[in-house]
Amino acid sequence: MFDPAILKRRRENLMEAMGEGSVGIWVGAPELIRSRDSNFRYRPSSDVLYLTGFEEPGSVVVFRPGDEDGHRFTLFVRPRNEEREIWEGRRLGPERAKEALGADQVFPIEELEEQLPKLMVGADRLYYQLNRYPDMDAKVLQGLQASHRQRRFGKDTPATIIESASLLDELRLFKSPEELEVMRKAASLTAQAHRRAMAVARPGMKEYQLEALIAYQFRVNGCTEVAYQSIVGGGGNAAVLHYIENQDTLRDGDLVLIDAGAEYQYYAGDITRTFPVNGKFSPQQRDVYQVVLEAELAAIEVCKPGNRFNDVHDKAVRVLTEGLVSLGVLKGSVDELIEGEAFKSYYMHKTGHWLGLDVHDVGRYFEDDKSSRTLKPGMVLTVEPGLYFHPEFSKDDAAKPFVGTGIRVEDDILITESGYENLTHEAPKTVEDIEAVVGTEELP
Ligand code: GLY
Ligand code: MN
Ligand code: MN
Repeated sequence: MFDPAILKRRRENLMEAMGEGSVGIWVGAPELIRSRDSNFRYRPSSDVLYLTGFEEPGSVVVFRPGDEDGHRFTLFVRPRNEEREIWEGRRLGPERAKEALGADQVFPIEELEEQLPKLMVGADRLYYQLNRYPDMDAKVLQGLQASHRQRRFGKDTPATIIESASLLDELRLFKSPEELEVMRKAASLTAQAHRRAMAVARPGMKEYQLEALIAYQFRVNGCTEVAYQSIVGGGGNAAVLHYIENQDTLRDGDLVLIDAGAEYQYYAGDITRTFPVNGKFSPQQRDVYQVVLEAELAAIEVCKPGNRFNDVHDKAVRVLTEGLVSLGVLKGSVDELIEGEAFKSYYMHKTGHWLGLDVHDVGRYFEDDKSSRTLKPGMVLTVEPGLYFHPEFSKDDAAKPFVGTGIRVEDDILITESGYENLTHEAPKTVEDIEAVVGTEELP
């Protein structure tokens, strides 16, 4: 957990953005049933983590920046309960939460419905994210409705609901030095796991064995979880963009694509590497790989302050299209092919996304005037071009030599004052570095 002073600063920044006369509600994620009476491991909502560091389920955070009684930060948490704590684990409880989390007032979560109308009185607008946690929507809307009764007595109550994401997402988009330290660690642990997976890979192994090794590497190094389900796709499976079955055997002569990221202190790493199962690229695989790698390297060079988010994608598309022409897959002028989006049969996704507490992190991709977002120091984005020749749906004759191949290369890039920092530089990605690593270690 971050230093309480850092969390307080985030709340102050948020309340400043909200302005006096507003109230805002942020909801901790609900617990989710996996099957029957067993749950998934609890993962707090990123917003509540960002604002409080509180990791327990059952929390709601309410801010009133202009509260006259000094109750600017109200927190709802689960009450202490001896039986439940013996069965399920410790609870901080309202009494201790006030001190531990720096709240102005704390209530047991059971009092939410009673307190919400009171917390809305005096505000003329409500910041809240509708439809994220629908069970909570009903409570918030009932609270809002109930607050309106106070209008009879001349009180303000919220007449507008404003998307809360519009404020907090923008704060979360810019990472502080403390967050970047954690993100460097998430990136480094992710890179080490990818290197390890390369090292143990060999023909005959199952995709899930590499998935398991990566999960082991993450967890044994203190990661909370994988940041998303790992993709381990051999051969044609690599052309299925979100392939997570990971059940097939890795075959001699195939490439394997691994897209996996650690979640370290709730921050995500997100790396993709593609390498030959037997440790040696065939000449044809090498040619396609070089195109993707060069697209990635060129796109990373575009990552600097003042350039636009879409410039990164445009650069990747240009290098990939040039590559598809040189491979003989596409024919014609590169400019016209780009104009006609000919690359889309082989490159159907965007080149990156924001990265942070969520793997597809929050923050707008466009400026107010609808132009692509200008990159600024503190933003972290992925750069992840690829080429995919699906075993069934890649129908062009010219693509035939490559059918059953999927290649993506992905790194995590921090925009700095002078350019960029590649947070995931430790994961091997040149042909030479990859070939030197694959098959050099045993699966534990
Ligand atoms: N692993 C998800 C992504 O790369 O976007
Ligand atoms: Mn990825
Ligand atoms: Mn990604």
